[in-house]
Parts: sequence; structure tokens; C-alpha cells
Amino acid sequence: MKIAIGNDHVALEMKLKIKEYLQEKGIAVTDVGTDSPERCDYPIYGEKVANLVAHKEADCGILICGTGVGISLSANKVNGIRACICSEPYSARLSKQHNNTNILAFGARVVGIELAKMIVDEWLNAEYEGGRHQNRIDMISEIEKRNS
Ligand code: RB5
Repeated sequence: MKIAIGNDHVALEMKLKIKEYLQEKGIAVTDVGTDSPERCDYPIYGEKVANLVAHKEADCGILICGTGVGISLSANKVNGIRACICSEPYSARLSKQHNNTNILAFGARVVGIELAKMIVDEWLNAEYEGGRHQNRIDMISEIEKRNS
């Protein structure tokens, strides 16, 4: 499995810890940055990770900024991306099982590192259930097509 990861300056420390956590599990990580604590603009990194996922150069993505809001909003502008912010494991699991999310986002100012790891684990271990949920995912794609 290959995961693309991206962050802004606020989330640099959290990104490094999550990246290490994933690598310890044997997961390949493509890190698009930022690797600097200098103030930067989260849409750059949201788009980079979203493009890797949309073009299937990564299986899925993880995005972290202060709240997870700006960076997930940015990723969701890329066709085919379903990014969600999760501040607890339950939503993370259900977002995969029901909504087939392909990017997980969270806020470095919102969750601590141990909770972030739990959220990541729950999301990665969950599987999309398909079935009755697929029609709704198709409807989301139709919204994308109608408005692009
Ligand atoms: C940066 O100050 C902050 O706005 C950003 O990390 C994020 O929280 C935006 O949604």
C-alpha cells in the first residue's frame, strides 16, 4: 500500500510522527510536504495529495493542517476525491465503510498524536461496504460532473 501525505506548517510535527508510524507498519509513504515550519498555504498540499490519489499514484491520502478544514476543502475540489475530516475513530471507520473516502484529514490543533494514530488505524483497517452505499457515491460523482 502507498499513502500520500501532506500538511501545512502548523501540522509539520504531527505529519512527521504519522509518517513514521505508517512506515513502521511497512506502508510506503509519499510525502508532498511541507517540510518547513515557515508559514505556507495549505491548498498547495491538499491539491498535491489529491492529484496523487486521483491519478492512482497513491492508494489513498492523509492531510493535516491546523483544523483539517482548509486542506480537506482543497482536496475535495479535485475530481474523484472524497476527503473527510475525522476527529474521532468512529467517523473515520464509517467514512470508509459508507462513503468510500479516499483521503483522511484531521487537525493538528484538534487531536493529539495518540488519538490521531487511532483515527488513522480505524480508517486504514476499514473496508468500503458497497451495496446500498454505491448509489449515493454515484450521486456525489454526478454532482461533480454537473458542476465542472
Ligand atoms: C493556518 O493558520 C490554519 O489556518 C490552517 O492550518 C488550517 O487550520 C486551515 O484550515
